[in-house]
Amino acid sequence: MNALSITGLSKTYRGKKLQKVTALVGLDLEVAAGEVFGFLGPNGAGKSTTIKSVMGLIRPTAGAVKVYGVPATDPSSRSRIGYLPENPSFFDFMTAREYLTFVGVTCGMDRSVLHKESERVLGLLDLAQAADRPIRGYSKGMVQRLGLGQALVHDPDMYILDEPMSGLDPIGRALVKDIILDLKQRGKTVFFSTHITADVEAVCDRVGVIAKGVLEAVDSVDSILEKGILGYVIRFCSSDGSDGVKRVSREELDAAMRQLLESKAVIKSVEPERKDMESFFLSVVVRS
Ligand SMILES: Nc1ncnc2c1ncn2[C@@H]1O[C@H](COP(=O)(O)OP(=O)(O)O)[C@@H](O)[C@H]1O
Ligand SMILES: [Mg+2]
Repeated sequence: MNALSITGLSKTYRGKKLQKVTALVGLDLEVAAGEVFGFLGPNGAGKSTTIKSVMGLIRPTAGAVKVYGVPATDPSSRSRIGYLPENPSFFDFMTAREYLTFVGVTCGMDRSVLHKESERVLGLLDLAQAADRPIRGYSKGMVQRLGLGQALVHDPDMYILDEPMSGLDPIGRALVKDIILDLKQRGKTVFFSTHITADVEAVCDRVGVIAKGVLEAVDSVDSILEKGILGYVIRFCSSDGSDGVKRVSREELDAAMRQLLESKAVIKSVEPERKDMESFFLSVVVRS
């Protein structure tokens, strides 16, 4: 069974003066259990609208969402999800430790398990030192990390994260990437939105590109990077001791290697030259 199944999801908001804003148009998407899925799109593409529909926070105009087979309209569908909203905010008179306890108790966690888990999460997110200070004194990055912490504390099966790397410095971003990779290793399902292609390249199995409310492309990261290969660069040292570089296409690669080896050259490296995720993303979004 898929962890997440979205069919024909559409959303039209009523904006100012009842003006219609179409945020999503007929989105179909399946995310398998154990998969890390990157939901990539520019600002205003419809990422948060999709995520809020999954979380049952807004009512779609059309379509349906199921979480492990349970309709998102049924509150029990949320019990297996850890959710990071796009702009997390907390009861800021609480400390991080108190907040995680509050979340854990609300989720019905056993006190001793909760204590152990919240200490683990505080350590993991580098919040241990600030854990007994009121949240109102936290920096934006610390609030963002606590937002991820409260999604992790009850050890759910699926993580729905709306721009988990936003507002973080490079150390914070690396930390979040490591956490996502760790979740993947533990067989968890992760669905996260971002507008930064490098984040997707680093951690995702598959990526979906959304622009102007339409899911334009869904593919595996490996396949996107593979398709983007333009050719190969061979660096070698020839028999007379001089260094050389050869650029060849995929079709020419075998023959070029054979020829170099026959001429007693020493191959130093063979690297693919490729369009990266950024060019793929731009090509899809510009086309939309
Ligand atoms: N509550 C709302 N009322 C009216 N329009 C909205 C509302 N929320 C989002 N929108 C519009 O829907 C579109 C998609 O927004 P959103 O899902 O937040 O995009 P993203 O998360 O990809 O940046 C945008 O045009 C946005 O202005
Ligand atoms: Mg958003």
